[in-house]
Parts: sequence; structure tokens; C-alpha cells
Amino acid sequence: MSRNPPPAPAKKRIGILTSGGDCAGLNAIIRAAVYAATRLGWEVVGIEDGTAGLLERPLRYKVLTRQMFDATIMRLGGTILGTTNKGNPFKFPMPDGSFKDRSQEIIDGFRELGIEALIGIGGDGSMAILKTLAERGGIKLVCIPKTIDNDVGKTENSVGFVTAAYVATEALDRLQPTAASHDRVMVLEVMGRDAGAIAISAGIAGGADVILIPEIPYDIDKVVEKINEVRDQEGRNFALVVVSEAVRTADGKALQVEHLGGEKRYGGIGHYIGDQIAQKTGFETRVTVLGHVQRGCAPIPEDRLMAAAFGVHAVELVAAGKFDRMVAWSNRQVIDVPIAEAIASQQEVDLGGALVKTARSLGICLGD
Ligand code: F6P
Repeated sequence: MSRNPPPAPAKKRIGILTSGGDCAGLNAIIRAAVYAATRLGWEVVGIEDGTAGLLERPLRYKVLTRQMFDATIMRLGGTILGTTNKGNPFKFPMPDGSFKDRSQEIIDGFRELGIEALIGIGGDGSMAILKTLAERGGIKLVCIPKTIDNDVGKTENSVGFVTAAYVATEALDRLQPTAASHDRVMVLEVMGRDAGAIAISAGIAGGADVILIPEIPYDIDKVVEKINEVRDQEGRNFALVVVSEAVRTADGKALQVEHLGGEKRYGGIGHYIGDQIAQKTGFETRVTVLGHVQRGCAPIPEDRLMAAAFGVHAVELVAAGKFDRMVAWSNRQVIDVPIAEAIASQQEVDLGGALVKTARSLGICLGD
């Protein structure tokens, strides 16, 4: 239940929020931060629905205790705090269609809550917003990277990515027997916005014949050549193709669907590629668009471990008075980097890296 404002804290109070698209592992991060902070005798306040909880009066928040995380919550997908990937407070959409800068209301909300520091869990877009809010409002901020897209810079992994890649791999495991039973090409469209991390990881792990990612421009004839080779030279009656949602059409167009209210989101490239393959190879082809299934499940152990390590390190940064930092995974260590550096350098699939090399050595067609 939310009150407004909470009674003045007898002990240090920190805030935590989740922002941007949800992913597996968010509750595990929150739990780790609550455990680490309460061991230091601090109180943790969870702000609801990202910064949106601070736009409303009464403020929307929850006091988070260790007892809340005794059993199931850490294992759950989603976020118990809620989140939003809409409503940039600097350009907030108003009911009359206009936009308003509502950032001061959020800053005032932080002050009312009596929070000494904020742990913001988000992707690059959310971190950029939180950083600006922190600068304008004098808020002491530490960030934790999360995104299934794994496109945040300066960290090898963000929480949520490995679980999403696992789900996409499992989808290929399920598509393979039906592909083989029906002599079909199965195309799997996965998420990832402008980064092909899920596609290349799941594609290799799931035994794909073709993986198309936005980082590598493709030639459909190369794709067709590979599928014909699978059939004519390997004598295989099926093929598996993974396509990342931001892959372009042959003429370089991003395929997006316009939704109610004019918002455009990626959608359609799997069907586009599937049709081309069917037409040019004669293979019966089916397309699966995996969508939000990649986001909403229990985190696999690697994500729980990273969530735990990140949550603990974020609290350590607050304790040490080190702010404007993002926790990061680097070479089997948890480190921290300036938030500005992380958001300035989007992570893409490394074209000279191990995954691309491995895919090529396995004979997987990357479209080029
Ligand atoms: O950034 C995470 C992500 O899941 C992308 O991979 C995807 O393009 C997008 O969010 C979907 O957003 P929404 O939840 O608004 O449909």
C-alpha cells in the first residue's frame, strides 16, 4: 500500500525502480539489492512503474523488505515494481496530443520520498533519462543494465539476455522436429531491436542453418544457396532459419507495423524472408514470431547470478558514495563504469568476435 509521503526515515533510505521493457531477472536484482541494503541497516523503497510512480500524487511506491523475497518472487519473470517503456518525462504525451516536460514533478517526488540515492534498473534509453533527471535534480544515481537485446555498451552482458537467448534456443528445439516431419523450412523471428545478439546466440545453440542479424547485410541468393545445399548436398529435408526483427528487406527497408495511436514497432521480416525462401527454393516454409515470450519467464541460473552480483555491487557503490556509475560484467568480474560511457556506446554483435567466427566455421550462412 502506498502512503504519501512516507514518514521521515530513522535510517538511510534508498530507492529502486525498474524502467523500460521487462525481462527475466528483474525481481532477482531487486531481491539482491534489498538483501544487501538491509544488511547495512538501510530501508529500500521500490518506486512503481519506473518514474511514473513519482508523477502521481499520492506517490506510488512500496517499502521492500527481506521477508517479501523469501520464496517465489526471485524466481518470477516480470517485475514486482512494474515498469514502462513509454512516457519520457522530458516529453510526456498529454491527453490533448501535446507534449510536456514533467521532469520537475519526478524530481519533487524523489525529494518527498526522502531517498538518499536511487538504483535505476534499465536499458540504455532508461539510463539516459535517469541520468538527466539525476543531473537536474541532484539525485545520486547508480544504474544496473538489463535488456534482452544485450545492446548496452561497456558490459559484456545485461540481465535478461541469456534467458531470452535460452527461450529462442528452446523454440528452435521445438521447431526442428516439426520441420523434419513435414519437410519444411522453419523461420524463427526473434527480438533484439537493432542488435542481433539473441539471433546469433540462439541460432548457433539451436542448430540453425541460416542466421540473419542487422549487423550483417544479407543477400537472399546466399540464403537460398545455403538451403539448397542443405537439401541437395547434405540430403536433409528441412532447414532452420533465425531472423532478427530489425533485419531489413532487400531494398534496405525496416519492416514495421503501425499500431493504434501511430506507434511503429518492428514486425514482418520473418514472413518476408519466409516468402522469399519458399518462392526461390520450392521448400514449404512456415514462420514463427517469438515476440514477448522471450521476455516473460523465470530467469535461468546465469541471469539469477548476474542479477545477484549486480544488485549487491550497486548497493556497494551507494555505500561507497560512488555515483553516476553503471555496474557491468567484464571478464568474469563485476565492475562499474560511468553511465555516460555505457549509453554512448551501443553494443552490437562483434563481427570479428567468437560467435560470428564460430557460426562461419560451422557453415552457418550469415547472409553474406
Ligand atoms: O528492448 C526490448 C524489446 O523487447 C525489443 O527487443 C523489442 O523490439 C521491444 O522491446 C518490444 O517493445 P514492446 O514491449 O513495447 O512491444
